[in-house]
Amino acid sequence: MNYARFLTAVSAARKPSPIRMLTEIQQRSPPSMISLAAGAPNPNTFPFQSCSIQVKNGDMLTFDETMMKRALQYSSSSGIPELLTWMKNLQKNLHNPPTANYSAEKGQMDMCVTTGSQEGLCKVFEMLVNPGDNVLLDAPTYSGTLAALQPLGCNLINVPSDQHGMIPGGLKEVLSRWDPADVHKPHSTVPRVLYTIPNGGNPTGASMTTQRKREVYELARQYDLLIIEDDPYYFLQFDKPWAPTFLSMDVDGRIIRTDSFSKILSSGLRIGFVTGPKPLVDRVVLHIQASTMHTSTFTQLMVSQLLHGWGQEGFLNHIDGVIEFYRTQRDAMLSSADKWLKDVAEWHSPAAGMFLWIKVKGVADTQKLIMEKAMEKEVLLVPGGVFMINSSDPCSYVRAAFSLSTPQQIDEAFKRLSALIKESL
Ligand SMILES: Cc1ncc(COP(=O)(O)O)c(C=O)c1O
Repeated sequence: MNYARFLTAVSAARKPSPIRMLTEIQQRSPPSMISLAAGAPNPNTFPFQSCSIQVKNGDMLTFDETMMKRALQYSSSSGIPELLTWMKNLQKNLHNPPTANYSAEKGQMDMCVTTGSQEGLCKVFEMLVNPGDNVLLDAPTYSGTLAALQPLGCNLINVPSDQHGMIPGGLKEVLSRWDPADVHKPHSTVPRVLYTIPNGGNPTGASMTTQRKREVYELARQYDLLIIEDDPYYFLQFDKPWAPTFLSMDVDGRIIRTDSFSKILSSGLRIGFVTGPKPLVDRVVLHIQASTMHTSTFTQLMVSQLLHGWGQEGFLNHIDGVIEFYRTQRDAMLSSADKWLKDVAEWHSPAAGMFLWIKVKGVADTQKLIMEKAMEKEVLLVPGGVFMINSSDPCSYVRAAFSLSTPQQIDEAFKRLSALIKESL
């Protein structure tokens, strides 16, 4: 693939930071190397000495003095090597990406650590999206994506979707405005980027079927699109086997995948990953060099020690426990929805994630109902409009999360919501 055609002028202009390169050389060097190069502070002056963190299974993560000095120091912009290696092995085992053994220029699978997947997404958009570009996505979509994309001045084009995610026929129809023969012409307006959340969509809870992914991938090939696969709920799929990912189908090197540890290990530690063709991951890393420099070394070491201690099996066992929790929560929400909302609303049972997307019957726009009336009755929900490309368009949906509240609280919340809806009809 010709990756240069996808880059914005800003991204193409990014150059490696000479200081950051020296830091990386220094970190790979034996202790015999005398470095007068890097401007790193001397960790002997830092007030922290050591720490130990108790894991719930009884294990201890221990940072002795040497490890602590490393944890408190600058580190590589792409992520600390031991975490990256662990994650690359996991990606290969889970997705078996066809690109794993490609040459770098052909789009070899590469990865970098990001400060949550949000940082990865934001940097990927900045790398690919110019003002005026046509960008495809299936709205309603994650408000954080809209917040990152809209200021770039692009034209967001909605691709029809349902409870099984983006509809390939709908995408085909949208793309039929353009001729595939025009894709590589100068000043072509053919979209170059398609964004989707393939599992447990935020806010819709929708999960894409394998067949739909295959068809969307084929259309992406026809129109030479990059697909951004934003998959923070991959590990929260309630049924096994987990659906094959776009990454697993990526024979061309056109998938950029964002993963997140927020929903399974910690949201506050801020660890996410970008996986994609090396020429593009390199550009994201150049952006990191110039912005945050790297994700916290401390949190990366903490997570890395945990993962190395667990091994892949231990990690997946932990995930099974997380899934069980969310499945029980989902079922509790579904049964409360059945009990209180059956006459006034509609929904689909989500196969992944933490959201129920509820269509309120007979209410054209839920903004006032949720932001004024429900709040007065002490129930917090999100009015669906915030997930729309044009947030002021009326929207009859609300998003309810089953992550934090107890089944009793969920039941009480739906009881109050049901009364409010009935009052407003
Ligand atoms: C679809 C989607 N993408 C990305 C993110 C960002 O997650 P984080 O930055 O915590 O990894 C979220 C968070 O809720 C999300 O729902």
